[in-house]
Amino acid sequence: MAEAMIEFQSVTKTYQGGQAAVDDLSMSIDKGAITVFVGPSGCGKTTSLRMINRMVEPTSGTLTVDGRDVTSVPAPQLRRSMGYVMQSSGLMPHRTVLDNIATVPRLNGVSKAESRKRAEELLDVVGLASTLGKRYPSQLSGGQQQRVGVARALAADPPVLLMDEPFSAVDPLVRDELQKELLRLQRDLAKTIVFVTHDIDEATVLGDKVAVFATGGKLAQYAAPEEILRAPANEFVAAFVGRDRGFRHLAFSPSDGVRIHAAQTVRLHELGTGNGAGDWQLVVDDEGRPLGWSGPGAGAATVPGGSLFRKGETLRRALDAALSSPSGLGVAVDDDGRVAGILKADEVLAIIDADRRARQGRL
Ligand SMILES: Nc1ncnc2c1ncn2[C@@H]1O[C@H](COP(=O)(O)OP(=O)(O)OP(=O)(O)O)[C@@H](O)[C@H]1O
Ligand SMILES: [Mg+2]
Repeated sequence: MAEAMIEFQSVTKTYQGGQAAVDDLSMSIDKGAITVFVGPSGCGKTTSLRMINRMVEPTSGTLTVDGRDVTSVPAPQLRRSMGYVMQSSGLMPHRTVLDNIATVPRLNGVSKAESRKRAEELLDVVGLASTLGKRYPSQLSGGQQQRVGVARALAADPPVLLMDEPFSAVDPLVRDELQKELLRLQRDLAKTIVFVTHDIDEATVLGDKVAVFATGGKLAQYAAPEEILRAPANEFVAAFVGRDRGFRHLAFSPSDGVRIHAAQTVRLHELGTGNGAGDWQLVVDDEGRPLGWSGPGAGAATVPGGSLFRKGETLRRALDAALSSPSGLGVAVDDDGRVAGILKADEVLAIIDADRRARQGRL
């Protein structure tokens, strides 16, 4: 039995006035391993992750890290003892790359010279040229920024690394590279990593164990990736993983059958406070390019959308778009980046299912 590093014991989180975002979660996360939280948008992955370092406080239940109840450690101290990497690199724009990486060691009282030296080493560790250290974040590519984010999270050498969709904003090739890099790093570092993604492929590539979350913040299955692919615990997991082998094969499947529905859009400057209808609205700029989603309820903020789908791309990209969108509706764009319509996750999943059956029929 692997040693446990993080334990959720009947942890529930209910945000003000809402339903449970995380519902009675009990799980044990192995020390020195990569555990991946995967599931569709809104199923409570980020909330679960953030309860580990008390960026979010549980409504009930107990969470321990290395045997200690997290509420017994002051939140700022707890937060600094864990690396945190998020989707947008979260770097401070007015500080150089090196200064960004050195942030937490400086907060922990390490001298300027020493934390700088460590930051320089870390640039190398994450595969960046030392010349990039003097640049500002905006002068780096998306992939480079994510590497800096990883370097920053590693700077204080924390035993626990929390990563929230760190690679989902970069293009697929860079993403593959970053995944390989993380696995290479982990062979040397053996950190306890909790990694959030909505992409089952990424989950099965990276995870020593994978936790599949279902809508409503329920843990649907928690097992080694092979087991999840081979023996999904229920219909939800089966549909989510594409039943027999993850979605890898979808990278080669055409998306011909995917229906693109007419989209109801609203321009940013027309966005009133009157969105009381309870539906998600797709917000576009004056050229019709997607900007994000306006949430249900009056006065709700615009939230960033997921990945975009271009006509002619693969089924994998279609599914990615639908699963990464906060509204559950994927956004299709034309060659000029204008909204061409929306696609629905359940329809994409139905096509995937039919595709799988057809393949099995042929075997
Ligand atoms: N600060 C908040 N206040 C109220 N509700 C919230 C808050 N943060 C999240 N929620 C709700 O809790 C649920 C879970 O959200 P969470 O961000 O944990 O999901 P997620 O699985 O990370 O989704 P995504 O894949 O879109 O990042 C959602 O219904 C969300 O709307
Ligand atoms: Mg999230």
